[in-house]
Amino acid sequence: MTSSPRRAGRAIRLSAVLWVLAIALVAGVLSGCGGTQATDGRALFATNCALCHGPEGRGNDQGPSLRAVRYLPDQLSDAEMAEGIRNGVPEEHFDLGPMPAFPRLDDEEIDAIVEVVRDQQREAGLLDP
Ligand code: HEC
Repeated sequence: MTSSPRRAGRAIRLSAVLWVLAIALVAGVLSGCGGTQATDGRALFATNCALCHGPEGRGNDQGPSLRAVRYLPDQLSDAEMAEGIRNGVPEEHFDLGPMPAFPRLDDEEIDAIVEVVRDQQREAGLLDP
């Protein structure tokens, strides 16, 4: 009986430690998700798009700048941009040939890339924050 308060104290301390660990785990997982998703979009843009549109979407001799009024949401919606990434874009406004399709990117990856392009347009001051 004399050891029971001490045991209770230990149990409380142990459960406190477990709570801290559980919260840290959940927080870690949540921040990990947000973090990787944001980074993923940028990483996916870097590997799939930067070759022709430049690392920041400013364009180069293989692809146009994506920081253009023509590609703002009222002229090219998120769904239309996703469509173009999924299935390719025919040569239309430029003399650079068509844009290839990206059948290996899934919807989530494409959405993340579209968001990166919108960020670039925001950064260029073309799109309200
Ligand atoms: C091999 C070069 C190349 C690659 C790689 C490429 N693009 Fe393009 N992209 C082009 C060209 C060229 C055009 C312009 C076509 C035209 O209008 O003549 C274009 C057009 C676009 C447009 C506007 C037209 C539309 O209908 O969507 C967007 C947005 C775009 N690209 C985004 C991307 C993204 C995002 C990626 C990466 C997933 C990417 N591009 C990869 C060459 C490329």
